[in-house]
Amino acid sequence: MQTRQLGRSGVRVSVIGIGTNRFGKKVDQAGVNTIIDTALDLGVNFIDTADVYGTGQSEELLGVALGGKRDRVVLATKVYMEMGDGPNDRGASRYHIMNGLEDSLRRLQTDHIDLYQIHRWDADTPIEETMRTLDDLVSAGKVRYIGASAFAAWQLTKANLLAEFHHWEPFVTIQSHYNMLERHLEHEVIPYCAEHGVGVIPYFPLAGGFLTGKYREGQPAPAGSRGEDNARVQGYMTPQNYAILENLIAWAEARDHIMVDLAQAWLLAQPAMASVISGVTRVEQLQQNVKAAEWSLTPEEAAEVTAILDAK
Ligand SMILES: NC(=O)c1ccc[n+]([C@@H]2O[C@H](COP(=O)([O-])OP(=O)(O)OC[C@H]3O[C@@H](n4cnc5c(N)ncnc54)[C@H](OP(=O)(O)O)[C@@H]3O)[C@@H](O)[C@H]2O)c1
Repeated sequence: MQTRQLGRSGVRVSVIGIGTNRFGKKVDQAGVNTIIDTALDLGVNFIDTADVYGTGQSEELLGVALGGKRDRVVLATKVYMEMGDGPNDRGASRYHIMNGLEDSLRRLQTDHIDLYQIHRWDADTPIEETMRTLDDLVSAGKVRYIGASAFAAWQLTKANLLAEFHHWEPFVTIQSHYNMLERHLEHEVIPYCAEHGVGVIPYFPLAGGFLTGKYREGQPAPAGSRGEDNARVQGYMTPQNYAILENLIAWAEARDHIMVDLAQAWLLAQPAMASVISGVTRVEQLQQNVKAAEWSLTPEEAAEVTAILDAK
């Protein structure tokens, strides 16, 4: 398994990681255990979760699955989303981050988080308060690196310039919505990250499964798949997107690959990408997804694929 540096930090992560937002909702403890054991066998060391996934369930299941194996992974979680009814049960205040971290550590059965991410920009909390708190957590050894999620380029710039000015820890990564059909990140965030050494972790990298090629125009969604009832995935099922998908599948198959390889290999060919955290609900999906790490698109190939996407 290829690895890359997590932004400008020294730590290395597998180019294919695991997204866990269905753990608890769709994957039970036995399933999570198998996925994690298989991931480690396959050289996958980067796992992304969040306190809010299943309101703590994803972290709890991972905590059990990682028993005795915690030091073999780079474990990322997030804070910000609403975790209770109280006025301070959400946000990026010092109060909520400190409490949220302790809750995540308990659920994950660990004494530190490798990458602690602020899930969303908090317009109500001064960013100085958030950055200073995160710096304190790194100094205390409870957090190793910090990341942002779904920040605009100006927000990331402001946060990291403040950190530089005050000698606080900067965000080493940003996790944001990015895939072949969702490319707004290319306007400002990716150029900023490429220039400043911030690693990009694309979320929703397979468009919730649409970019695996398992949904075909005019056919019902496969039984048990997310596309059966998920409005976001169904939103991708337009004639225009199906037409692009057919062209992409043909391009991949002409090179003895399948669509799921191409969706991830194309992401990895874009500037500043750190790791592609494809979500998995079954171990077979993980086994298939990691194969993308063996396919490095040349710049010319990546440009050809981008031209297919641009043709829409
Ligand atoms: N920071 C944020 O705000 C944010 C937001 C969203 C997600 N995330 C993170 O990003 C991760 C990935 O996003 P995501 O899971 O929502 O979407 P995704 O990675 O685009 O799609 C994952 C889904 O595609 C299907 N799939 C995966 N591999 C497959 C394969 N080889 N063959 C067929 N189907 C396959 C599975 O769905 P089914 O089996 O159910 O069909 C799986 O749940 C999340 O798990 C989470 O960690 C972060």
